[in-house]
Amino acid sequence: MKKTLPALCASLLLAAGLFSTPVLADSPVEMDMQAMAKAFKAANNADDAAQLQTSLEQLKAAATHAKGEVPKKFKDEAADGPNRQAYQQGLDELIGQVDQALGLLKDGKLDEAKALLEEINSTKRTYHKKLDA
Ligand code: HEM
Repeated sequence: MKKTLPALCASLLLAAGLFSTPVLADSPVEMDMQAMAKAFKAANNADDAAQLQTSLEQLKAAATHAKGEVPKKFKDEAADGPNRQAYQQGLDELIGQVDQALGLLKDGKLDEAKALLEEINSTKRTYHKKLDA
């Protein structure tokens, strides 16, 4: 019994973790955004350079995938329309900042890499506002 209780608690925590992740995304962009949110949160909680690197790479992969998709509400807009262009531009900006952070990490500059997370967050806020997301 002494051993089963912690195991039970662990399973409950695991289940709670799984179900607290929104899984109701009904578009590829929403799925990518949710993956970005998860990776960004992990980056902010990273305790060391290795964890930060892994989560930044996940953030970059999801953002790169999102770039190949078109948000549902802009599907009818021409590819060179203002919202679709802003969407591409914002993700390019974000990917550039993630690359910058990864470069700093390679140079052993953990604090400076972490400081860039605030800029990434600001890019998110700017473009969510611009695109009414
Ligand atoms: C770390 C940065 C970012 C995070 C964590 C993030 C996170 C999110 C989340 C959680 C959603 C809601 C998804 C849902 O409805 O399930 C969302 C939606 C959205 N985000 Fe982001 N985002 C980030 C950066 C960006 C950037 C840079 C852009 C554009 C250039 C962007 C464009 C959008 C759009 C267009 C939607 C609405 C998707 C839709 O309803 O089809 N996001 N984002």
